[in-house]
Amino acid sequence: MNKMLNKTILFLLVITVFSCKTESNSSAKTSNDTPFDAKVDSLMNLMTLQEKIGQTVMYSGSGTITGPTVNTNFRTYIKEANVGAMLNVYSTKATRDLQKLAVEETRLGIPLLFGYDVIHGFKTIFPINLGLAASWDLEDIEKGSRIAAEEASAVGIHWTFAPMVDISRDPRWGRISEGAGEDVYLGSEIAKAYVKGFQGDDLSKTNTILACAKHFVGYGAAQAGRDYHTVNMGMDELRNVYLPPFEAAVDAGVETFMTAFNELNGVPATANKFLYRDILRDEWGFNGFVVTDYTAINELVEHGFAENEKHATELAIKAGIDQDMMSSANRLYLEELVNEGKVDEALINDACRRILLAKFKLGLFDDPYRYIDEQREKDVIYKPEFLEAARKSAAMCSVLLKNNDKTLPLDKNQTIALIGPLVKDKENILGNWGAAGDRTGKAISVYEGVQEYLADSKVAFAKGCEIEGDDTSGFTKAINAAKTADKVVMVMGEDYDMSGEAASRTNIKLPGKQTDLIKAIRKAVPKKQIVLVLMNGRPLDLSEEDTLADAILETWFPGTSGGYGVADVLFGAYNPSAKLPVTFPRTLGQVPIYYNMKNTGRPIPDHDPHEDYKSHYLDAPNTPLYPFGHGLSYTTFEYSDVELSSETIGFSDTLTATATITNTGDYDGYEIAQLYVHDKVGSITRPVKELKGFQKIFLKKGESKTVSFKLTAKDLEFYNLEEFRVEPGEFEIAIKGTSDFDFEHSFTLE
Ligand code: NOJ
Repeated sequence: MNKMLNKTILFLLVITVFSCKTESNSSAKTSNDTPFDAKVDSLMNLMTLQEKIGQTVMYSGSGTITGPTVNTNFRTYIKEANVGAMLNVYSTKATRDLQKLAVEETRLGIPLLFGYDVIHGFKTIFPINLGLAASWDLEDIEKGSRIAAEEASAVGIHWTFAPMVDISRDPRWGRISEGAGEDVYLGSEIAKAYVKGFQGDDLSKTNTILACAKHFVGYGAAQAGRDYHTVNMGMDELRNVYLPPFEAAVDAGVETFMTAFNELNGVPATANKFLYRDILRDEWGFNGFVVTDYTAINELVEHGFAENEKHATELAIKAGIDQDMMSSANRLYLEELVNEGKVDEALINDACRRILLAKFKLGLFDDPYRYIDEQREKDVIYKPEFLEAARKSAAMCSVLLKNNDKTLPLDKNQTIALIGPLVKDKENILGNWGAAGDRTGKAISVYEGVQEYLADSKVAFAKGCEIEGDDTSGFTKAINAAKTADKVVMVMGEDYDMSGEAASRTNIKLPGKQTDLIKAIRKAVPKKQIVLVLMNGRPLDLSEEDTLADAILETWFPGTSGGYGVADVLFGAYNPSAKLPVTFPRTLGQVPIYYNMKNTGRPIPDHDPHEDYKSHYLDAPNTPLYPFGHGLSYTTFEYSDVELSSETIGFSDTLTATATITNTGDYDGYEIAQLYVHDKVGSITRPVKELKGFQKIFLKKGESKTVSFKLTAKDLEFYNLEEFRVEPGEFEIAIKGTSDFDFEHSFTLE
């Protein structure tokens, strides 16, 4: 038989195997039995070992480079059936072109999977993830990721490397910008919202994409906040803080996981059997597939864990890793390792099966081009309603950190001086991981947002200085602008690439001469109100700015429609409701600082925080500048009448805690009510406070509402170094608008 005929026969066989219509899969956890199992088996029966290994290989296209440059002949490898997935390919033309290679030029024509970092939007960019977390608005987060999936899928992307659910308590770490902050409960709820948004309820729909929980695990606890650095963590922290958001993602049905670059307690995550086989698969029942992070298999050699890349390949597959992103390790060594008897072929079958299963769920065997749709691309990219949703998000994510003497909202009848390097910015405003977002003009700057409210004649603009560098030559013009206006609004912060991957900082103050510029203006116009509008990817040390500015609005990097959303807040069209998902320290020396800390045996007494031989600093208080959960509104909310359904509950009872919240100020607005508990005594020590619930409610001025939270024993469970358990005893409880409070109520579990 000639080669062509051979291929035709195989192709017919494959078509028979694939031809049954794709059925939807909307199960919560990825279940063991899927409607596609028989099809996967039939296909795998046709595959050679090399073709199966090919499915476990991923390469980067020539789009954005998201790791060290590695030149690969990916086109050749695709044609040789040595590639199962591609990343960084994100236009209809490019995805169609490569899909054609895989489908038409390989023996079995197995379609490629296209993955991409769609982190906080694809084209329409939403606020960075830390900002999204500040909204505490799960519906909005789900909606934003739904929109991202709509846009990305239209160009042929099937898979996003999101959400990043790494907890982080270290603002030096640049990737804190990509996560949901420091808290386990908030982080877990947000993880679920992202997964639901990306994956929708039916993966066979062409506008839903696979989500990926990353980076498993501990990545956010890198020593000294330096990216990729070592992580040493006890079981208390690992089980009670860092793992739960990943488990929440599994519960929400996440289809894929990504390994972390770091080592965990001496074993690099990418070779960590305990994580992948024991916890992820055996304990949590995860049935999706696991991809490495970029070149992470090769890095096992640099870690000093593998002798060479071949050894690293063996360790990774044995640990339970299914797909190799960019290491070329599986392509080069897996077959040899099987032939030498070092790797059981069954491991490769498992990995291949999981990856093929995902392709079946997406319907790629019905039509490998079904996502790539130029017309849909035109229809959905930058759809007006998406841009509008991004505007709303930008407003909902902006945290009002400070607002003395009603400095904000601005009055449309007054004039303002708009000063700072980020006033007219359309590039940084997208933040890091801007995916395919346009940094050259599409984004709305704060200046343009303000123009919707104020005529140009009422705005005096001066850049003043750059974000970085020592140039102060623009100060005079900025001071003059400040002198002419009723109020000063300064828009400052970081460059977008000062956070994100490989972007750790040892100094978390405003960079360059920006603080000096605020000081110069404060001095020149001592009586004028100054508003500081911030764009940044991490908690900053704002202790100086806090003494200089009358109002501070943290907008993170607010995205494509950011300028509109920020202006909506500045002028009061949206009354700020966001709350910090992460603590802002007074000084870097306090890091790590987070609200749900342990008490120590020598906590500082309230009456004298300087009392000797207590756990404190000589030169700074223990308290942060702005605590977790903090965020002001233009109105004020009063919490009263906290009531518990019972003072004592049993292990199978439900406790209802209620509080009345009254809008006591002058504006209608949203409030985020937070439920905290404190387990007073445990078989291992418990945090001084733990968030256990939250609700966002709307209150007209003068209005009161009752919020009600339900707690069961399960909510009080923790890992005590041996097992998950709920222990009887006394629990303090509170419903508040911030984590900064003293408990006044308690109940007993018995
Ligand atoms: C490396 C990053 O750590 C990861 O988060 C990302 O998804 C991959 N590169 C792919 O770009």
